[in-house]
Amino acid sequence: MVAPTKKTRGELLRLATAGSVDDGKSTLIGRLLYDSKSILEDQLESVESASRERGDEYTNLALLTDGLRAEREQGITIDVAYRYFATPRRKFIIADTPGHVQYTRNMVTGASRADLALVLLDARKGVVEQTRRHAFLSTMLGIPHLVLCVNKMDLVDWSQERFEEIREEFGSFASKLDIHDLTFLPISALTGDNVVERSENMPWFHGAPLLRLLEEVHIASDRNLVDARLPVQYVIRPQRSDGSDHRGYAGTVAGGTFRPGDEVVALPGGSTSRIDQIWGPGGDKLTEAFPPMAVTMTLTDEIDLTRGEMLARPNNRPFTSRDLDAAVCWFDEDSELRPSNRYVIATAARDSLVEVTGLHYRLDVETLHRDENAKALGLNEIGRVTLHSRSPLVFDAYRRNRETGSFILIDQATNRTVAAGVITSPLEQPNNVVWHNSDVERRDRPRAGATVWLTGLSASGKSTIGAELERRLTAAGRSAYLLDGDNLRHGLNSDLGFGEADRRENIRRVAEVAALLADSGTVAIVSLISPFADERRQARDIHEQKGLPFHEIFVDTPLEMCEQRDPKGLYRQARAGEIADFTGVSSPYERPEAPDITVVPEDGAPDRVAEAIARDLGL
Ligand code: ADX
Repeated sequence: MVAPTKKTRGELLRLATAGSVDDGKSTLIGRLLYDSKSILEDQLESVESASRERGDEYTNLALLTDGLRAEREQGITIDVAYRYFATPRRKFIIADTPGHVQYTRNMVTGASRADLALVLLDARKGVVEQTRRHAFLSTMLGIPHLVLCVNKMDLVDWSQERFEEIREEFGSFASKLDIHDLTFLPISALTGDNVVERSENMPWFHGAPLLRLLEEVHIASDRNLVDARLPVQYVIRPQRSDGSDHRGYAGTVAGGTFRPGDEVVALPGGSTSRIDQIWGPGGDKLTEAFPPMAVTMTLTDEIDLTRGEMLARPNNRPFTSRDLDAAVCWFDEDSELRPSNRYVIATAARDSLVEVTGLHYRLDVETLHRDENAKALGLNEIGRVTLHSRSPLVFDAYRRNRETGSFILIDQATNRTVAAGVITSPLEQPNNVVWHNSDVERRDRPRAGATVWLTGLSASGKSTIGAELERRLTAAGRSAYLLDGDNLRHGLNSDLGFGEADRRENIRRVAEVAALLADSGTVAIVSLISPFADERRQARDIHEQKGLPFHEIFVDTPLEMCEQRDPKGLYRQARAGEIADFTGVSSPYERPEAPDITVVPEDGAPDRVAEAIARDLGL
């Protein structure tokens, strides 16, 4: 195994090219392949004969890539052509992104993983709109190195003055962008000047030709080898010959280094364990894993870890949040992004439903002007948005990690990818709200608290069991307090109804209150229909993030029985259409998948059930 920090022979450079039509991109790529002797003899022959047939006076190298692209594009939606070539010093992948209508999508797809962006312009035309757009996108995508190739220098008589003019013009635009490494290069792709060989026509230019630059640009330290991240894509249960069936967590390392023995935390769940073993794709045992290796890990404990979670180190965690701030490029021709629209967000780890909670501005990429009155984003437009996710998302800021800091948005109705985004940060708390630490620590309190969360249909028996539990614990000298959905709806939640959004908010508030009580040393007993799995999960997260015990009790009384009991006559009214959105009748109840305790009618009377719960939970 070779440490990633060591410079290896054959290190891979991903390179994205962009430019407007006729800037000579295809010729340049052809020239790189041709002069670095990377094209196969038979391809070359066919290009030579095609050039002769077309009556070109020279071997038209553009045919090499154009031909291939045409082939690839037939009937396929991929607009990015990938070309591979190698020199004795490095391997290269070129993502060639055509600059027509869908240029943002192409560039984002092709360039999102690139180490270096090559933006071409025509020396006669100088800096044009596309140049600025492409440069902007490259920096937004966090591509660490940008090379601006001033092409067709042969057509401006190899003029140093012209080159300097362009350098100055682009330089003033670039100074407003966050570009780390910018190189200007005067070339002629057609004649090969400064492509592979140094130009004899431009002795005034002292920099290295393009290929040397590509071979030498330092990329090893651009990779994030600090923040260990493994989005879990699959959970595998291998049956080994020795009978062990330790679950394996498979995914592509998105940052940092993992080694057997390392302590890890699974987010957003929060369970911790240690890495037992790491396996490579071929079933070989590894001593370490780093990006972009595809690996499977086993852990020393059987923890609660599902697909879509992210493994990280406990002392170096990504953000976990439902709200995030992002820059988004809109790709879709037939729709627009607008506030309150909903999409599926696909992140490195999990997919979720998000709502656009704000469109803060649309950016004019050419002037970098921010239009704060924009109401929507259309094709190729870029804007700053805030998103609210139904379930907690785990991510990093894009600046810190391009894999875990980016996402795409999918239109649920059409299943089309409509946008790509880079995360700026979790939504910032307004900075006039500062967390105030208490002087009393949890261990100073007489007893540790906890939350017992009873979920189930209306009339399932939650409140009776909850009240019984409260009575028992209080009688035994514990501090216990029942938070009953119906009662809270008279005060704290009196502004909420039974629509989906209101119920989610209802559950969120009760979860926050329960966590405060639990933190104070009380056993908070929650009796709430809480029909949504996401919100119950959020309630658990709120507790786990604070290190507070959370127990989910599913009072699994069948609907028919609840309906028969119908103590308040509500089911009857709901059936008669007099109450809307009634859980179990006209509004869904998502059954818990893995509750800590399930209570069924056969378990007996509420006092017996309460006693069993108190005993099982050690309260
Ligand atoms: S939750 O869905 O938001 O968790 P919560 O537990 O607070 O509900 O309140 C449920 C109680 O409100 C029920 O026990 C019932 O008495 C009353 N209720 C009134 N309308 C409805 C409704 N449409 N759906 C469910 N419960 C309702």
